[in-house]
Amino acid sequence: MALLLDVRHLTVEFPVQNQMARPSLPLETRVGTADSPVEVRRGTGTLDRSSQLEEPGRITSPLTVAAVKGLSFSIAPGEVLGLVGESGSGKSVTSLAIIRLLPPQARIAGEILFTNGNRSACNLLQIPEEEMRHLRGSGIAMIFQEPMTALNPVMRVGDQIAEAILAHDNSKEISNREAWQRAIEAMNDVAISDPERRARDYPHQLSGGMRQRVMIATAIANRPQLLIADEPTTALDVTIQAQILELLAELREKFGLAMLFISHDLAVVSQVADRVAVMYAGSLVELGAKHDIFNSPAHPYTRGLLKAVPTLKTNRARPLETIEGTVPSLQAIPPGCPFETRCDFRVPECATALPPLVEVAPGHWARCPVVNPLK
Ligand SMILES: Nc1ncnc2c1ncn2[C@@H]1O[C@H](COP(=O)(O)OP(=O)(O)OP(=O)(O)O)[C@@H](O)[C@H]1O
Ligand code: SF4
Ligand SMILES: [Mg+2]
Repeated sequence: MALLLDVRHLTVEFPVQNQMARPSLPLETRVGTADSPVEVRRGTGTLDRSSQLEEPGRITSPLTVAAVKGLSFSIAPGEVLGLVGESGSGKSVTSLAIIRLLPPQARIAGEILFTNGNRSACNLLQIPEEEMRHLRGSGIAMIFQEPMTALNPVMRVGDQIAEAILAHDNSKEISNREAWQRAIEAMNDVAISDPERRARDYPHQLSGGMRQRVMIATAIANRPQLLIADEPTTALDVTIQAQILELLAELREKFGLAMLFISHDLAVVSQVADRVAVMYAGSLVELGAKHDIFNSPAHPYTRGLLKAVPTLKTNRARPLETIEGTVPSLQAIPPGCPFETRCDFRVPECATALPPLVEVAPGHWARCPVVNPLK
């Protein structure tokens, strides 16, 4: 079956203004041009630059750091891919690149192929803005962690959903009244009781869980094929979180919705995803079927994450295991394996170059040739 979304070698870099390189650090300087930036490594960090050095040891803007590096994954129609990783690993940047809402200073490379309905795949990074605007909502929709920031506080929620419906109505034949009716149907789809009355409420009159339902209603109102859900339950308490996860599963079933479900919480991802992608410091470190990731994790980072998830077997008398250390900052990502400083399995070679992804079983990939030697 054709893929719905096929992300290939996605790299996203942001400029860093006025970075100072300490002269005492080993500094390799290969001067590039604006058209062909070259890579500069200093200390343990890897930075790309497109400017000239003004004086030795001092690098002036613009430098860039990579928030996402060579990321590849795909989603089939109706499939749910869970994207997990610690804060700052590049999950939101990936989702914003797909829906093309990154700030203008972001430098993006790679391909994001999306197959809309029966049409052939288009590269979302290259289609005109007008086409992209149409795709947002009708082909790909997104929901965020904190619905209050995405909803207009001075507009009735029914009007906000109706507005989204009108914005994507190609025929231009739908009246405001019909859009309002469809908004109420969408609220019904997300199990908001008494939707006719609730549609007249303002966001502040609704609970957090109800607001997230309104966001989901807005997202699905135009029947997108792909829903990107970026930490959709993180701001909610556990009971409401469970209800929203259940709702997403129902909508998936009902509308054949595919999802990119983003969370830092593996336990949450395990409830919704078919496959799981694990990111660390901008790189994909493991990808596979949920069953494989949870039963035979092949990357030391994924193993560490799993040990930190409480289960029924967890001894409550002992503190949960954690991964020692912290994620390196974007300016200090090591040239080798990004997990090297925290890894119990590291060998000297780990520090030299980014390890390749190894297929450890059919469809199960991990970026650790030490734990998974190439056969
Ligand atoms: N507009 C921007 N300019 C510069 N750096 C950015 C920008 N947006 C994101 N970043 C950086 O990119 C990295 C990845 O950020 P991202 O928001 O994707 O992380 P995340 O995995 O979604 O984390 P969280 O779980 O906290 O949401 C971070 O280091 C972040 O500071
Ligand atoms: S490549 Fe080396 S440092 Fe990285 S996860 Fe594997 S063993 Fe650890
Ligand atoms: Mg995020």
